[in-house]
Amino acid sequence: MTVKQALSHAREMLANQNIEDPALETELLLRHVLRKSRAELLSEPDHELSPAEVETFLILVNRRLNGEPTAYITGHREFYGHDFHVNPTVLIPRPESELLVERALQLAHSHNISTIADIGTGCGAIAISLALDLHDVEIYATDISRSALEVARFNYQQYDLTGRICLLEGNMLDPLPRPVDLITANLPYVTDAELTRVNTFGFEPSLALNGGPDGLDKISLLCRQTHEKLCQSGYLLLEIGQGQRKTVCTLLRDLFPLADIEVIPDLSGIDRVVSLSLP
Ligand SMILES: C[S@@+](CC[C@H](N)C(=O)[O-])C[C@H]1O[C@@H](n2cnc3c(N)ncnc32)[C@H](O)[C@@H]1O
Repeated sequence: MTVKQALSHAREMLANQNIEDPALETELLLRHVLRKSRAELLSEPDHELSPAEVETFLILVNRRLNGEPTAYITGHREFYGHDFHVNPTVLIPRPESELLVERALQLAHSHNISTIADIGTGCGAIAISLALDLHDVEIYATDISRSALEVARFNYQQYDLTGRICLLEGNMLDPLPRPVDLITANLPYVTDAELTRVNTFGFEPSLALNGGPDGLDKISLLCRQTHEKLCQSGYLLLEIGQGQRKTVCTLLRDLFPLADIEVIPDLSGIDRVVSLSLP
């Protein structure tokens, strides 16, 4: 079987099961087996796979057909142009969260921000993307999950960011030793009712997805703690789910009557990031 035949065969199998973007997923799986870059893979369409490579590839395709996310099969996910190690103890970073990073970088480049805390950091994708761009900012990254922090540690060591990011285990803002200038948070916001409809249900940790009956248990808790851990004139950037804008903005308005609140939509037009600026 050649590269071209393997790709086409697997692509058809994934497409038949309505897996989104079967061409990309197939490529990622075959690249993982052959340990090749995209350019290397696509430049050799007639390269003949060994029987062992064919067998391994088909096993991975079957895992994907059984619902396992490609990122857990390969152990990698790209986010904000960087490669991150992931495993089933962490959420697979989503492209929507790149908006949070973009917004945080805009703020950090145009205001006096010297400390940032990323709450619920998971594999560290947001905190590490910020640290790679902001060389003079002190960054804390917290998570309640010890195993998630181990993945974040592995990732920041890969990027040689040791000493640049301080990982802290604990609930929300509790572990922060002092107030910071900017808080970023992509916390769990899926409602109890929606949880089983998430297409990675049963694979991603529910601790990383489930936000309780209205999806806002964790976000509300963070908003209520923010007074103590955000500096004067500081910023809070929260990722939210579809339909959560009104409740989150009302809560923030009650807690911070004098603050500016802005909501930023993602590329699909869904309200995705709530930005709070303290006076
Ligand atoms: C939606 S995931 C986001 C992970 C990462 N920030 C990202 O965008 O890929 C939410 C993260 O919040 C963490 N988490 C859940 N409850 C928490 C809590 N009470 N305090 C701190 N972190 C929490 C989970 O362990 C998980 O890593």
